[in-house]
Amino acid sequence: MGRLFLTTPIYYVNDVPHIGHAYTTVTADAVARWHRLAGESVFFLTGTDEHGVKVARAAEAAGRSSQDHADATAARFQEAWKLLDISYDDFIRTTEPRHQLTVQAFLQKAYDNGHIELDTYEGLYCVACEAYYVESDLDDGLRCPIHGTPVERLVEENYFFRLSRFQDRLLEWYEAHPDFVSPPSKRNEALGIIRQGLDDVSLSRTSTTWGVTVPWDEKHVFYVWFDALINYATAIGYSSDPDRFGAWWPTTHHIIGKDILRFHCVYWPAMCMAVGLDPPPHISVHGFLLVGGEKMSKTRLNQIAPADLVNDFGVDGFRYHFLRDVPFGPDGDFSYEGMISRYNSDLANNLGNLLSRVATVVARKCGGVGPRARPDSPLAAVAAQAVATADAAWRRVAPSEALDATWSILRETNAALEAAEPWRAEPGPEVDGVLGDALEVLRLVAVLAYPAIPGACEELWRRIGLSGSPGDERLPAAAEWGGYPGGLEVVPGDPLFPRKTA
Ligand code: MSP
Repeated sequence: MGRLFLTTPIYYVNDVPHIGHAYTTVTADAVARWHRLAGESVFFLTGTDEHGVKVARAAEAAGRSSQDHADATAARFQEAWKLLDISYDDFIRTTEPRHQLTVQAFLQKAYDNGHIELDTYEGLYCVACEAYYVESDLDDGLRCPIHGTPVERLVEENYFFRLSRFQDRLLEWYEAHPDFVSPPSKRNEALGIIRQGLDDVSLSRTSTTWGVTVPWDEKHVFYVWFDALINYATAIGYSSDPDRFGAWWPTTHHIIGKDILRFHCVYWPAMCMAVGLDPPPHISVHGFLLVGGEKMSKTRLNQIAPADLVNDFGVDGFRYHFLRDVPFGPDGDFSYEGMISRYNSDLANNLGNLLSRVATVVARKCGGVGPRARPDSPLAAVAAQAVATADAAWRRVAPSEALDATWSILRETNAALEAAEPWRAEPGPEVDGVLGDALEVLRLVAVLAYPAIPGACEELWRRIGLSGSPGDERLPAAAEWGGYPGGLEVVPGDPLFPRKTA
């Protein structure tokens, strides 16, 4: 049986969840659900990144201890993910003892292997990024290119990770693993960083105590990025359960935003090499979700909370929009008007109206009992093609393409109904055939769209008289034409997705 260890980044607790965080998390959730449908064993991990100067300062500004602040904000992320139907298997927090122990074990090993050494460092530091910059990368030589805020000059005696030594091995790894980072534009970006030459990276701090203590020198705590990346190893038992770790690690797939590409695609594989581990097999990198053309951020006050949009569009309206309308990879601009228009065309019309229409006509022409599909329906081939396209698209983290393929079945079915006009025809085998085909399509779409809009698909499943949940179905069997058994009561009801006006 296939296995997948799928991860999101762990989110900083200096900030509350916004739709940028939700975009990554919903994408990963839908991908996890697709693989579960395919019968694979999935371990889906998300969590919060709770150490570092940035969090300590946010806590101070909020007038509470760092731990209290982390507890409160981690709870906000958990609430947001509950609201958005995120089916994570584990929520890791970097302040948990299991993680602190793993960070120490992992980095002790890198130290023992000679890849970590003491040195002095003076540099320009952006607290918001938790990263040093060279002057040439700064705006006007003094401001962080991402946050626009002035950087600070820090002088520290630090432990350094000897990243510079890994340049050749990283290039070899990329060469031998063409699918390591996708899409290709992001792979090239990572390769560009490596080819430019790598500097050693400062891996500890003495300027803060809010972190994991360096086990061989307790004046230091680990720099938050080295602590954070190791969360992926903690959750599958790196230091506590080697067999479990061995089973999941070769199936790892990280999903991240492009802002953290350098850490995941350069530092992390090198850190793995430093402890004698192969890098994770896949990293998929998406672009920014922009609002009014700009990246959302606390400093720009342009953040949108998931709950605001869920109030207007429902959980599934929210999930569908970001999966379908913000293709994975390039940057995408959020627009409320765009969200309304996609909701109305795909959810209210193509899917919702098809269900209402079929339920109404089945009530009038078939006594409310759904007929079976025709084995030789022309829609069978349309569906088979769409299933193949959707499967390939979900597997390469292209939800937008997967959903477009799924909706192509609905479009064809609506067109077939318009052409046959069963609502005008006399009851009989012809009408039964057309409606049976449409019900079979609704069954199929309830399964195929379940990863994106699980709640609506469960309701759809119930309305066409099926018991259980589409989430309990298994591909490929569930995608074969003819699964709707017929003879079931089709339940009329309120529109699945009421139309929206601006
Ligand atoms: N804590 C680090 C990640 C450590 S992973 C070992 C971090 N946290 S973060 O809270 O800043 O979240 C970063 C991630 O949130 C991005 O990589 C991306 O997945 C998501 N996004 C945050 N803002 C975003 C947008 N405006 N657009 C799209 N995704 C965004 O970095």
